[in-house]
Amino acid sequence: MNVHESEKIAGVLEELGYTSCDDFSKADIVVFNTCCIRENAENHAYGNIGMLKKLKAKNRDMIIAVGGCLPQQIGKADSLHKKFPYVDIIFGTHNLNKLKDYIVKKQHQKKAVIEIMPSEGEICEDEKPYRTSYPNAWINITYGCNNFCSYCIVPYVRGRERSRNSENILNEARSLIKEGYKEITLLGQNVNSYNIGNEDMSFSQLLKAVASIEGKFRLRFMTSHPKDFSEEIAQAIASNSKICHSVHLPVQSGSDRILKAMNRKYTSSDYLKKIEILKKYVPNCAVTTDLIVGFPGETEEDFEETKALVKEVGFSSAFTFVYSKREGTVAANMPNQIPEEVSKRRIMELVELVNGLTRTQSQQYVGKKIEILCEDFDEKKKTYLGRDEYGRMAYFESDKNEKGNFVNVNIESANGISLVGVKAGD
Ligand code: 5AD
Ligand code: SF4
Repeated sequence: MNVHESEKIAGVLEELGYTSCDDFSKADIVVFNTCCIRENAENHAYGNIGMLKKLKAKNRDMIIAVGGCLPQQIGKADSLHKKFPYVDIIFGTHNLNKLKDYIVKKQHQKKAVIEIMPSEGEICEDEKPYRTSYPNAWINITYGCNNFCSYCIVPYVRGRERSRNSENILNEARSLIKEGYKEITLLGQNVNSYNIGNEDMSFSQLLKAVASIEGKFRLRFMTSHPKDFSEEIAQAIASNSKICHSVHLPVQSGSDRILKAMNRKYTSSDYLKKIEILKKYVPNCAVTTDLIVGFPGETEEDFEETKALVKEVGFSSAFTFVYSKREGTVAANMPNQIPEEVSKRRIMELVELVNGLTRTQSQQYVGKKIEILCEDFDEKKKTYLGRDEYGRMAYFESDKNEKGNFVNVNIESANGISLVGVKAGD
């Protein structure tokens, strides 16, 4: 999500005639796209902005802008301005489309330009992102979130869920495929609720419509809230081989008590039923997830239930997070915040468990031939890399440029989470 937003920011800069450079000291403009979902993301942003103070003192013409969800939090734009008075532009998540005006305005005035829109406004349909991830391309289908999970700040900084018009999404997908992109990922905080309550097509219809665009490409989507993952979506995945057999379905916890406190609106057995439905139509589907440890009140027993669920589902990989208290959310005021050392121990155990699952699944690839979409060349390893439809990373050598090609690779070894193989003969 954030990478794609950065592409949109880069698109605005390109339109204004700026080109990218990888050295801050040579930059005419630096735009930070911040995230505040966890405290360490926020601290990371402060560290990076702080680093530019000396450079700005030397080069007063350099424009520094800070956008994204950090300044969108109540009171944060002002505190950012006080903390970093040398920042020229501060904007939020609802007015990225006005960045161009802010830059032009700043070029003509001394004063900082600070504008945060409290409400969502209209969806901007004419963005021209500067895409940096060929052969992969992301398309937003929804913005915002209505779920208010008790730990999460997203609904506060991104506002209520809005769905883009399906025709615009399909046009964007068609032109990306015409341009040669080989993998499309439909993005939203909860793609499953796309157009719920609207007359426009549902998410499963949209999936099928995008998949039916002519050409060889892969289709993925992210993220799915388990409560809205339906049989129709599972059927849609099974209906077209372009839709990858890989679903990211964040469970967060395996304890019903904690899931309730998180306001996730499902129990662990509801979640397992969703997996069952998915596997009924897509038996070989890889399932990945997000897990949080150390949510307020999480006992050893709750944590054991999370581990048990992880084992039962057999996730192919998982993002694991330590609960981070976010001011303004319901969980921030809950009693029994968990001590850091307990959370640290739990996350280490969980990472070990998840890595074990991932490693075992990687081993099962050895001796098999898989189709890789080549994404990049690793300069250090001097090998190409890409993923199979299940999202598993594989490395292989080739004497020609393979970026953007579908390549058959015979897997010879598994190296933890990734695979190493040789290009198969045609
Ligand atoms: N603390 C820890 N993890 C969080 N996430 C969201 N909010 C928090 C928080 N306050 C995680 C969830 C979500 C993922 C994108 O980030 O697991 O699925
Ligand atoms: Fe946050 Fe929950 Fe919305 Fe995901 S579904 S963005 S975790 S509130």
